[in-house]
Amino acid sequence: MYDAGKIITGLVIFVGIVTFPIWGSFGDSDVVPKPVVKVSGTCVEDAAWMRTHHMQILDEWRDEVVRDKDRVYVSKAYGTKFDKSLSSAGKTSCMSCHSNKGEFCDACHTYTAVTPYCWECHIEPEEEI
Ligand code: HEC
Ligand code: HEC
Ligand code: HEC
Repeated sequence: MYDAGKIITGLVIFVGIVTFPIWGSFGDSDVVPKPVVKVSGTCVEDAAWMRTHHMQILDEWRDEVVRDKDRVYVSKAYGTKFDKSLSSAGKTSCMSCHSNKGEFCDACHTYTAVTPYCWECHIEPEEEI
């Protein structure tokens, strides 16, 4: 025979697990999402500066590449060279290091309700989980 008690206990646990993402985040809803950086080392510039200036650097890069064919960026903070590129594969583009766009770029942009239109043309990296 079926044991009604066990079934109900099982159901309660099941519902609890399935709905955890909903009630588990109660009280946390004001917490700013933490973008996941999956590469080690450093960014193009200092991370704190990047947080507030990455849109400007991308704008400058686009102009310099498209107008002047100038494709090399030398980091002011570290002296290292990067390709001035948002998403080119096989280069030191933003997305070659931050290929986890969903947990990185989108984590912040969803929270701040920003929707960059870049991906209408630039290829989004294949999501890595
Ligand atoms: C060579 C790999 C690499 C490249 C290229 C790169 N990043 Fe980063 N990025 C990192 C790493 C590593 C960190 C975190 C550590 C650090 O820099 O101190 C980071 C941090 C950041 C942060 C701050 C995240 C936070 O903690 O709040 C932003 C924003 C960012 N990157 C955006 C970009 C953008 C936009 C580009 C292209 C213009 C880019 N990155 C290019 C590796 C890279
Ligand atoms: C630490 C949080 C954070 C991370 C990580 C981040 N962004 Fe942003 N991004 C923002 C914020 C906030 C704005 C809006 C700034 C404003 O409106 O002044 C923004 C704006 C932008 C804009 C300008 C969009 C517009 O319509 O004005 C671009 C382009 C952009 N981000 C690209 C990227 C890319 C590409 C990545 C991943 C490599 C990334 N961002 C990662 C927070 C972040
Ligand atoms: C209408 C299509 C379109 C849109 C939308 C667009 N771009 Fe581009 N972008 C291009 C083309 C075409 C190039 C030239 C590619 C080349 O010469 O390597 C380019 C080049 C660039 C470059 C330099 C080359 C490279 O490899 O990345 C950057 C940086 C860039 N765009 C950033 C952006 C950002 C940031 C956004 C969103 C705020 C954006 N673009 C939106 C079409 C677009």
